[in-house]
Amino acid sequence: MSTSAGGLIIRQEEPRNLEFPFDRLDSYLTPVESFYIRSHFHAPTIQPDSYRLTMDGAVKNPFAITLKELKSLPGKTIVATLECAGNSRVFLVPQRPGAQWELGAVGNAEWTGVPLATLLDRAGLNRNAREVVLEGADRGLPAELPRPPEAISYSRSVPLDKALDDVLVAYAMNGSDLPQDHGFPVRAIVPGHYGMASVKWLTHVRVLEEQFQGYWQTIDYGFWDEVGGIPVRRPLSEMRIKSEIARPSTFEVLPKGRTYTIYGAAWCGTGDVVSVELTTDGGRSWANAKFLDPIRPHGWRRWNYDWEIPDRPGRFTLKSRAKNTVGESQPDEFNERYFSYVVNHTLPIEVVVQ
Ligand code: MTE
Repeated sequence: MSTSAGGLIIRQEEPRNLEFPFDRLDSYLTPVESFYIRSHFHAPTIQPDSYRLTMDGAVKNPFAITLKELKSLPGKTIVATLECAGNSRVFLVPQRPGAQWELGAVGNAEWTGVPLATLLDRAGLNRNAREVVLEGADRGLPAELPRPPEAISYSRSVPLDKALDDVLVAYAMNGSDLPQDHGFPVRAIVPGHYGMASVKWLTHVRVLEEQFQGYWQTIDYGFWDEVGGIPVRRPLSEMRIKSEIARPSTFEVLPKGRTYTIYGAAWCGTGDVVSVELTTDGGRSWANAKFLDPIRPHGWRRWNYDWEIPDRPGRFTLKSRAKNTVGESQPDEFNERYFSYVVNHTLPIEVVVQ
């Protein structure tokens, strides 16, 4: 396993796909240099002085705004966990195509920017406006089949009510300018949605009166839903509830008869995480973990649990299970409907006690 200069696991050199080694989790906010990177194309270089964000489509007053103007508008800072929809894919059997992310295509950061609603308000929405397409400056041919005939940009839509609710047009991460790999100078943050919704290098916001059928929400980052027995393709959107064990890591050797503090984090897209339970006997019994962080909308909560390791050698399977305020609980099994995404079932971490 090779790592980058910043200690991230290299899943792919270019375009950059780097994973946070989740067993190093120790802070509420993920430091910028430890935050996973998931890019489909080479990161574009954008000069801040010539940067413009264009707002157009089904609006009365299309306009373009400079970075300086954007930063002069009333700003907002939020915490949001971003998890790549393909995080934990390595747990799927048989193996699915795509980057074999383990536990670290997820991070929790503070984002500062301007509510998208402020910009949409200034543009003046047409009466039939229904979706908002967020487009990045990066372009290319997607790696996976089926491919479009020519280069495409990275773009995703959000429903209008979400766009007006809490989507942020962000220019800072943990209090500093966005690093290039995380979207410099401006990216979208779509709180509660899988990472693919938070378009980096955001240069174009287009309001639509119809449903957007872009590549990144139909061919990729989509799933098969069912309506009255008929399969329909839908875009992935809200993150499903999930907890992950950061420590111990898989196949770690632990001393028998001691106390070991199991440590991890939990998050969800809708509602708030209210409990995390632990099993150390493969699911026969569960006990509550303690939270280390309070509830903050869209931020993860770290937790821990003191495990009295049995006084006998053997292999033990640990799993954590989170629940939230809207009645969601992590399932025991992967939902095949998502094929290679939304891996939020209780993930087994096998350890060796000696
Ligand atoms: N935005 C653009 N323009 N291009 C991309 O390839 N990748 C998306 C999203 N936004 C992507 C993008 C995906 S799949 C994820 S998971 C997140 O960015 C990752 O954000 P990060 O690299 O800042 O962690």
